[in-house]
Amino acid sequence: MARERNYVSEAVMRRMPKYYRYLTDMEKAGIERVSSKELSQRMGLTASQIRQDFNCFGGFGQQGYGYNVSELRHEIHKILGLHKKHSIIIIGAGNIGQALANYTGFEKDGFLVKCLFDINPRLIGMSIRGKPIYDIDELEDYLKENQVHIAAICTPKEKAQEVAERLIKNGIKGIWNFAAVDIVVPNNNDVIVENVHLSDSLYTISFQMSGE
Ligand code: NAI
Repeated sequence: MARERNYVSEAVMRRMPKYYRYLTDMEKAGIERVSSKELSQRMGLTASQIRQDFNCFGGFGQQGYGYNVSELRHEIHKILGLHKKHSIIIIGAGNIGQALANYTGFEKDGFLVKCLFDINPRLIGMSIRGKPIYDIDELEDYLKENQVHIAAICTPKEKAQEVAERLIKNGIKGIWNFAAVDIVVPNNNDVIVENVHLSDSLYTISFQMSGE
């Protein structure tokens, strides 16, 4: 039976992957049942926050029993859409692009890196963990012939917006941007953009250490 999904705020959405991560680790550790109090202590949230979050999806768990870890993990797996396979291409096969292609963990979650694209003739024709690096000029043809769900942008920041527009024009609906700039998409667009700024986390550490 499909669960009823109420309005899900940005904050709740951002917490769902964290629930999934904690529950995956707990399942691996052989934990079968967890109360909202215990889950809240592990995750640094309040128990009522957790109940409210889960209520957005029709609620899980039973009064007095808590949550069955595997069942809850399974539900969140579906909510996150991880039961589907997602194909990924990487634009920019430099440090970050190659690191993403080399990481095997995404595949375990169904995110399959198909290939990379670059402008550098020295990289074109090479492959990273069996994933070919194609000439960026072949992007449009590739997208016509292959179903791609997500494109990771790993180019210099000056090129990122232009690359994003090219991807959107050719039907890409998910953009995972690593370049140090926020990609802007038109409001009426159904494209999902996730800007990943590693330096922002670093600046946050620095800010907290600066003590001023
Ligand atoms: P990189 O210089 O090693 O790689 C960028 C690649 O993009 C190069 O191979 C280049 O030929 C290619 N490229 C340039 N224009 C292109 C285009 N129009 N189409 C396709 N490919 C194109 O750079 P790196 O270190 O991988 O960084 C990539 C992005 O990630 C940058 O925007 C950087 O600010 C950001 N970033 C990198 C971090 C890192 O640790 N390397 C950390 C945080 C952010």
